[in-house]
Amino acid sequence: MKRKRYVQVGLGGRSFMYTEAFVGTMKASCELVGLCDNNRGRMELRNQQIAELWKGKPVPVYSDRRFDAMIREQKPEVVVVTTKDCFHDKYIVRAMELGCDVITEKPMTIDAKKCQRIIDTAHKTGRTVRVTFNYRYSPPRTQVKDLLMKGIIGEVISVDFHWLLNTDHGADYFRRWHREKKNSGGLMVHKATHHFDLVNWWLSAQPVEVMAMGARRFYGSESGMAERYGLQGHAERCHGCRHGKKCHFFLNLEKNPNMKRGYLDCERYDGYFRDRCVFGKTMDIEDTMNLVVRYDSGAFMSYSLNAFVPWEGYKIAFNGTKGRLEHDCIESVYISGDGRVQGGTIPQGTRIRHYPHFKPVRDIPVWQSKGGHGGGDMPLIVNLFSPNPPRDPYLRAAGVADGALSILVGVAANKSMRIGRPVRIDQLVKNIPQVRRTPIKKW
Ligand SMILES: NC(=O)c1ccc[n+]([C@@H]2O[C@H](COP(=O)([O-])OP(=O)(O)OC[C@H]3O[C@@H](n4cnc5c(N)ncnc54)[C@H](O)[C@@H]3O)[C@@H](O)[C@H]2O)c1
Repeated sequence: MKRKRYVQVGLGGRSFMYTEAFVGTMKASCELVGLCDNNRGRMELRNQQIAELWKGKPVPVYSDRRFDAMIREQKPEVVVVTTKDCFHDKYIVRAMELGCDVITEKPMTIDAKKCQRIIDTAHKTGRTVRVTFNYRYSPPRTQVKDLLMKGIIGEVISVDFHWLLNTDHGADYFRRWHREKKNSGGLMVHKATHHFDLVNWWLSAQPVEVMAMGARRFYGSESGMAERYGLQGHAERCHGCRHGKKCHFFLNLEKNPNMKRGYLDCERYDGYFRDRCVFGKTMDIEDTMNLVVRYDSGAFMSYSLNAFVPWEGYKIAFNGTKGRLEHDCIESVYISGDGRVQGGTIPQGTRIRHYPHFKPVRDIPVWQSKGGHGGGDMPLIVNLFSPNPPRDPYLRAAGVADGALSILVGVAANKSMRIGRPVRIDQLVKNIPQVRRTPIKKW
């Protein structure tokens, strides 16, 4: 069988899963032919890992300035983009212009202008963009889709959705590049793109209008929290900070071999610090956000995201014409790139409960999940890279329109927080292609 040729751009924590597929689990159908990053250390590290873990041969490496040369010389069919969010558009657009299809990590991009460039280039070139919404593939989330499609609560009239990020993984966004909106679009885009995509897909609906309020109250130098914890005089990063023993948020890059090799040892190439103080300066993202969203199906959603909570996961309830469906989930504790399973579901904290109108309530046994992001990572990889993925009644494969419609809720929320008024999605980006929607039984 002729193997498909792939290159990867952006070689941080998330990219490892794709390398593992190309040189390990999916190597019968995939060939990794190039690696690109702006950090030479992480490119060299990836080739060391390929040799150590899979006894593989080194893959040609290219600095970010030589991306075009990589495409010309290695002739990939598909470019996998896992850089910092703010550079996704640059590589997605250029890859399509050079004749490649694209697989990109979420968020597809971070603002309306970059999103328009991607949409326009996809129309112009006819190339495809897949956005890797792994949550859709997580068994309990697929099960919720299954139940809604079957019309278990009829037509959905409103949704209450509350996502909690904890003081491990949630706090970590305030240490890394994510803490500046120019890099990530803030948590409304970077993180909530997952949540808004789930709702668009669960409801088979498109967001129309967004009203939002938010602030940063817990992290940062102005919150007063460092002083409440007695951390006066803290350093601007954990490495070398005198409060190491006393601070709940201290991250020891030296102690974790993955973090040391991937970030601390690579600082000398790009000056990027992975462990900036969560109570430091130079951050502008919110840690508490509240939204109301209106959908083209007529449904409304009230949504909140809080990033400083003792546990991580979410509570969602769908209120429909035939009853109410509740789904709660507690996720495992980790921080990105520390080697632990990312966002696994805790079985005893995950439930689906059905309240039909005029009949008794019942708990529905939850589809079991194992592995990263609620068990979504592995089925996603199989779907992306197997030569003949099975037919999917849930239409989980997300394209450029899904990528756009999920980030645009967050982009609209950012704008609404700024101007203090509701924002319409159709005024942000034009010519978004039609999304293929699953039918929902309404009665
Ligand atoms: N789907 C998920 O559940 C999930 C989970 C984690 C991360 N992600 C996404 O994956 C992407 C990467 O996240 P991460 O946690 O690996 O971050 P990271 O900081 O560990 O890695 C980012 C990499 O991009 C490289 N990079 C930065 N600027 C670049 C440029 N101009 N050109 C080329 N490379 C550049 C960095 O050197 C680094 O190697 C993000 O978009 C993030 O949203 C998705």
